[in-house]
Amino acid sequence: MKDSMKKKLKLKVSAIKEGTVIDHIPAKNLFKVISILGLNKIENQITFGTNLESSKLGRKAIIKVSNKFFKDNEINKIALIAPHAKLNIIRDYEVVEKRIVETPDTIRGIVKCFNPKCITNNETIRTNFKVVEKDPLALKCYYCEKITTEEQIRVL
Ligand code: CTP
Ligand code: ZN
Repeated sequence: MKDSMKKKLKLKVSAIKEGTVIDHIPAKNLFKVISILGLNKIENQITFGTNLESSKLGRKAIIKVSNKFFKDNEINKIALIAPHAKLNIIRDYEVVEKRIVETPDTIRGIVKCFNPKCITNNETIRTNFKVVEKDPLALKCYYCEKITTEEQIRVL
């Protein structure tokens, strides 16, 4: 594909002046990312595009949040559902930094324990897992010690 054509495809969602662009989100997980990052609860300007073509992901989504700069621990929460997401920090229209997400060593909340008998599925207790394997993902429940694997993951 010609470079000019690539530029046009990228500009489907307009450029921002200051803030964060979260790129390479699997399209099917766009709304989960929005909810995990609490983007539905903030006042910043947000634009997003979804079902955009991506050579790596098939269909990708992109989120642009103006005047928002996330902390590492905030952004790493999306690692479970958008492991290849890339963050672009924008200052005065320029990309000044690129960051990748990293799977944290522990996961609090976000994911449901696979074990139906687990206390976290029967009482209002926040889930808590130790990440015992990162790729493919395996989470060990702090309460029942059962493993929730990548295919079994259900986001709360
Ligand atoms: N972007 C934006 N506003 C700006 C500058 C960039 O919304 N003022 C967006 C671009 O549209 C792109 C992302 O930020 O989706 C990263 O920009 P850039 O590094 O220029 O793109 P690529 O070289 O394609 O980066 P990568 O291959 O790392 O995704
Ligand atoms: Zn459990």
